[in-house]
Amino acid sequence: MKPTVCVVGSLNMDFVVKVDHLPAPGETVLGRDFQMFPGGKGANQACAAGKLGSPSVDVRMVGRVGYDAFADHLKASLSAAGVDVSYVHATRSQPTGIALIWVESAGQNSIVVAAGANNELAAPEVEAMRTAMRGARYVLFQLETPLDTVEAALKLAREEGAKTILDPAPAQPLSLDLLQLVDILTPNETEACILLGHAVGRVELNDVPVLANQLRSMGPQSVVLKLGEKGCYYDDGVKQIHSPGFPVKACDTTAAGDTFNGALAIALAEGQDIETALRFANCAAAISITRIGAQASIPSRIEVDRFPG
Ligand code: RIB
Repeated sequence: MKPTVCVVGSLNMDFVVKVDHLPAPGETVLGRDFQMFPGGKGANQACAAGKLGSPSVDVRMVGRVGYDAFADHLKASLSAAGVDVSYVHATRSQPTGIALIWVESAGQNSIVVAAGANNELAAPEVEAMRTAMRGARYVLFQLETPLDTVEAALKLAREEGAKTILDPAPAQPLSLDLLQLVDILTPNETEACILLGHAVGRVELNDVPVLANQLRSMGPQSVVLKLGEKGCYYDDGVKQIHSPGFPVKACDTTAAGDTFNGALAIALAEGQDIETALRFANCAAAISITRIGAQASIPSRIEVDRFPG
């Protein structure tokens, strides 16, 4: 039987403007090149899983959109990547989620999300996700849908025998009850600091093993700390691996973390060992930052398999 990966999360239409520098509070900056791209952390992860895994892995997306043209565009983008969107339902009470994104010349960004229909993915409806999760090896989560829904859906995924991967983004503190439902927690440095209640700042490579261990002691079975150009660090309590990053010229870092998670889930669902899976995810994320846009930047399987040349 084909392995299945299911993603529960957000779909947003991204409105992207390139700027020379990110605006400070009260500042107006003149931007360049306005573009719209399909995005949303959940949909980006599903798109990455679809582009990298389909047709040998079944990928399903669970989420909410509004009754508008953005919804059609977002579903079409996922379908084109081979993702089953039959669990993406429309709600009349809210428009499709959107994100306003500024990208500066070195590729760093600022993002504001108006969640809209994503907020309608309600905890009492979680039982209806059971069929989407049935037979899934991995179910992926992020935090752009209501937290009680995420927690209830994590429980359901475990009941269905799936492994759970949580990307704790956008960054926020989480309860130990929720974190105990996670098999693989994948924070970046900022998210790790916020989860641990530390001051947010750049994390030195020497400090990473301690951070990963502290995060694991909060409940998840394993932690993959995403370190940007430094790659990632894995800790499951027995094995610790630093998988180095790939040097590339950054154009836009939007969705690099989402691409990493989708790729990681595919590699693991295919049965790759953790070291190979981390390298595969680092490659996919590195390629994605060389291009503008969220789903538009996610590489194909052939590109990742051939990278870095
Ligand atoms: O992680 C990147 C994503 O964050 C964007 O696509 C945007 O929609 C926001 O959800």
